[in-house]
Amino acid sequence: MNERDSEALAALLALSGYEVVEDEAAADVILLNTCAVREAAEVKAIGKARHLLEHREETPQLKVGILGCMAQNRGRGLLKNLPGLDLIVGTQQIHHIPEMLDQLFAQRDTGKALVELSSEEGSQNAISRHTPGKKPCAFVSIMQGCNMRCAYCIVPKTRGRERCRPLADIVAECRALAASGTREVTLLGQIVTSYGRREMPVVGGKSPFVQLLEAVAAIAGIERIRFTSPHPRGFRRDLAEAFRDIPKLMPAVHLPVQSGSDRILKAMNRPYTAEKYLEIVAMLRDAVPDICISTDAIVGFPGETEEDFRATAELFEAVRFDMAYVFKYSPRPGSPLDAAADDVPEAVKETRCNALLDIMGRHSLARNQSYVGKVEKVLVEGPARRGEGRLMGHNPGARKVVFSGGADLVGKIVPVRIDSATVTTLEGSLQLPLPS
Ligand code: 5AD
Ligand code: SF4
Repeated sequence: MNERDSEALAALLALSGYEVVEDEAAADVILLNTCAVREAAEVKAIGKARHLLEHREETPQLKVGILGCMAQNRGRGLLKNLPGLDLIVGTQQIHHIPEMLDQLFAQRDTGKALVELSSEEGSQNAISRHTPGKKPCAFVSIMQGCNMRCAYCIVPKTRGRERCRPLADIVAECRALAASGTREVTLLGQIVTSYGRREMPVVGGKSPFVQLLEAVAAIAGIERIRFTSPHPRGFRRDLAEAFRDIPKLMPAVHLPVQSGSDRILKAMNRPYTAEKYLEIVAMLRDAVPDICISTDAIVGFPGETEEDFRATAELFEAVRFDMAYVFKYSPRPGSPLDAAADDVPEAVKETRCNALLDIMGRHSLARNQSYVGKVEKVLVEGPARRGEGRLMGHNPGARKVVFSGGADLVGKIVPVRIDSATVTTLEGSLQLPLPS
């Protein structure tokens, strides 16, 4: 989501005459778009900003700003840690940054930071511009904010109440992307399964979100659709069946579970049980038997016992996730659980985190190995990070595939025979001749 917000801001800044430079040392403006979901992300952002501010003598004209969730949550308080900061901009004001920069550059250096944290009606519609040029895969923000109150989570505070973009605007954005060469869109929202529930009726048993998926699937040129993240509470049969009925909707779903213990789910204020989660998984596999399923889980939530943890480990064994992000609970000032004791020792969190990653790694590797010898359709995204002449893309199941090929293949969907697999990556060889 931050990546998308940053890109939309870069596109907006380009309209005001700014350009992105490759080298930080050449920049007149450095904006850090921050995350506040865990403490580690904040520590990293503050460290980076401090480093920039401390080395400012070399580039005295440099303006440094902090945007996004940490800016929203800490506001002016950031100036205590980071004196000299020029801009602090909250999540609903990012599109005003071009004007704010004009103001900063126009004023003689007063040393005063510009701080803008207010909420703004319609700000969800401001995240719609893309940088020009062809990109095979694009993110499209369909809504902002979240109305849930998961006990550990800072997001409802930093991103505000749920606000959706009109379906027609999202479709227009996807259509423009398709015209400029995008083949895959990933629809983004805190809880995409809530999309349009207040604004749009259910039609023919299909929720507004499924209607949106169908509308995007009807766009010529868009070949693949993904989304993140759905919430178990709003995950109904119509969405499971969409994976079966909409060929462009790729067979991979990221469905955060957070915990396999009903007691902890309740304490987290997550309105479902492990059994309900398993029912959704069964419904998905009923619709698309080999669908890839990934998740988020938190270990060491306050009060999590060995027994609670075992329930999460059992759920991991039962579901056989293809991928999982496992997080150690990180207390968030400003979240509903603000003042609660963070009572699971770090070493226990570490052990539990590794135990879940081990289970996931086993399942993920087994799934990846099952691709060996098969031909997968890969949307080529660009050069691989390592290796001359190597390309990178993803298969329908969202596994990363690396293989050798020419740069002219970028943006195409090509057949790749899978030769070997690790937990995270498939290696293969291009199948020639390419289908016309
Ligand atoms: N501590 C640890 N993990 C967290 N997440 C959200 N808040 C916290 C927190 N306070 C995780 C959840 C969520 C993912 C984006 O980050 O698993 O799904
Ligand atoms: Fe945070 Fe829960 Fe909302 Fe997700 S659903 S953004 S975890 S409050």
